[in-house]
Amino acid sequence: MIEEIEEILVSREELQKNARELGKRISSDYEGKDLVLIGVLKGGVVFFSDLIREITIPIEIDFISVSSYGNSTRSSGVVRIIKDTDIDVSGKHVLIVEDLVDTGLTLHYLKDLFKGRGPKDVKICTALDKPSRRKVEIEIEYKGITIPDKFVVGYGLDYGGKYRNLADVCVLKPWVYEKGEEN
Ligand code: IMP
Ligand code: MG
Repeated sequence: MIEEIEEILVSREELQKNARELGKRISSDYEGKDLVLIGVLKGGVVFFSDLIREITIPIEIDFISVSSYGNSTRSSGVVRIIKDTDIDVSGKHVLIVEDLVDTGLTLHYLKDLFKGRGPKDVKICTALDKPSRRKVEIEIEYKGITIPDKFVVGYGLDYGGKYRNLADVCVLKPWVYEKGEEN
């Protein structure tokens, strides 16, 4: 374990089990339907790759890259599209796959964006949920593990662009964040 880690909040085994259960539900709910999974970059990529390998029906995949945080632990509330999807989702079922729902602002924006593109429906799947900091109400059809109000890294989630490759969801030691805030 690297020295910056204070605590493991969700282990890789729990995260794998979570992806397996959600993948099973999605496979049965969307049986016989045209499903497009949209991965939200960059954070969603680790969960996305776990999830799609647990889905047993034919699907299409695509990615969108958005930024709602700078390099800090605070949400700016502004969602910016950095890279859009290229698949035509009209007439198809869309499932947006996120790492974590925090304030809900990102998914609120993304849901509306995809709804405007003529799909059959748009639903949300998230690996983690931090409901204590929600700013907008949002329905999450496929909700993974609920976590407390702590800033976490790993399993795709970053702090200042780093720690995405940690296999567990971790809390960093306070000095790491204090160092970051000074910059
Ligand atoms: P929201 O718009 O506040 O719901 O969150 C948008 C995105 O911010 C999430 O999908 C994460 O990528 C990122 N985020 C929120 N909380 C954390 C955290 O604790 N650690 C790292 N990234 C986070
Ligand atoms: Mg994200």
